[in-house]
Amino acid sequence: MTILAPSVLNADFSRLAEQITALESGGADWIHLDIMDGHFVPNMTFGPMIVEAIRRITALPLDAHLMISNADAYISAFQEAGADLITVHVEASPHLWRTLENIRTLGARPGVTLNPATPLLMIEQVLPLVDMVLVMSVEPGFGGQRFLPAALERIAQLKRWREERGLGFLIEVDGGIDEQTAGRVIAAGADVLVIGQAIFRQSDIATAVRQLRMNLPR
Ligand code: DX5
Ligand code: ZN
Repeated sequence: MTILAPSVLNADFSRLAEQITALESGGADWIHLDIMDGHFVPNMTFGPMIVEAIRRITALPLDAHLMISNADAYISAFQEAGADLITVHVEASPHLWRTLENIRTLGARPGVTLNPATPLLMIEQVLPLVDMVLVMSVEPGFGGQRFLPAALERIAQLKRWREERGLGFLIEVDGGIDEQTAGRVIAAGADVLVIGQAIFRQSDIATAVRQLRMNLPR
């Protein structure tokens, strides 16, 4: 079954605990945490302190998407704060092999991701090391952007590589996912959907999660 990972990027941070509880009661599987440094991406969000606070209010797996330049320096801080999955960008991780092994050694599940214009070949060599590949379907940095359809072929290619090589990584997609695009990315092979605005623009976010789930193809 498809894993739903709502992103709290567009949450009301003055009511974060309440909103995470609502995501949970709507049936969210994971909570996706967008970590931005104002350097790798032109926006800033939050760091390990907030991840640690979120860890205390939910038992759901925390899926940390690091959009930060010096990811290596902060991996242990995010793991200690309670992140279960830690995904790094190939564009910000010159020693990807070491970085991904380090995430696993510390006790988190490693993921790798890449911007929409970065060729998939940049991560091909590390596929056996990861538990998840995140396909960005928008330029990272902001919620509420339009889905880039080129992500569909990238998802399909990753699925082919996974089959041909007998690998087991999950394929996650992030950016512009709503009721329309969800069906297309699932048909292409996505296992995990990150969803921000399609949930948070609704007044009742628990119902929004429930409805998304109900309308997903099986
Ligand atoms: C973008 C983030 C996404 C974002 C998705 O940089 O990585 O997780 O929150 O939001 P929507 O679903 O609004 O595109
Ligand atoms: Zn994200």
